[in-house]
Amino acid sequence: MEREAAYELLKRYNKTEALVNHGKAVEAVMRGFAKHYGEDENYWGCVGLLHDVDYEMWPKEHCLKAPELLKEIGADDAFIHAVCSHGWKLCVDIEPKLQMEKVLYTIDELTGLINATALMRPTKMDGMNAKSVKKKFKNSKFAAGVNREVINEGAVLMDMELADIMNIAIAAMQSAAKDIGLENIEEE
Ligand SMILES: [Fe+2]
Ligand SMILES: [Fe+2]
Repeated sequence: MEREAAYELLKRYNKTEALVNHGKAVEAVMRGFAKHYGEDENYWGCVGLLHDVDYEMWPKEHCLKAPELLKEIGADDAFIHAVCSHGWKLCVDIEPKLQMEKVLYTIDELTGLINATALMRPTKMDGMNAKSVKKKFKNSKFAAGVNREVINEGAVLMDMELADIMNIAIAAMQSAAKDIGLENIEEE
């Protein structure tokens, strides 16, 4: 899977900046975890980038329309399974089986929480740590749309402490901050 082809496909079906940035944030975090596990960063990244490819135009068919779109760039069954398994229990009955799929399932909602946390901070991603995200995680009124249950369940599936997951996710989003609309503009 070519990253460029994956990005072109995302842009073809997603015109909302926030959704494109969400795809790129999930891509960055997936790459961070691929690195952590010594796996294929490009492949994990492309799965992350395209995980919501069908969401903007077909929200009611989320993860159902995706296979058809992904086939446009020659995605195979494994790639399609990985993308669609993030909708497990939410919109499809496709269970995350591979570690990569478990990571995607967990960090999709978590990137949303980190994004919301960053938007509240003047320095955005700069200087953020797991402790501040954990605080937001515990406050169910903050970014109420973020499904904490999915994150907790995902951490169990991944067999990793939530704080460790947060640390890897934060670091990945910090390195991609400029590209995902979370740049610290205070310095300029
Ligand atoms: Fe999704
Ligand atoms: Fe998502």
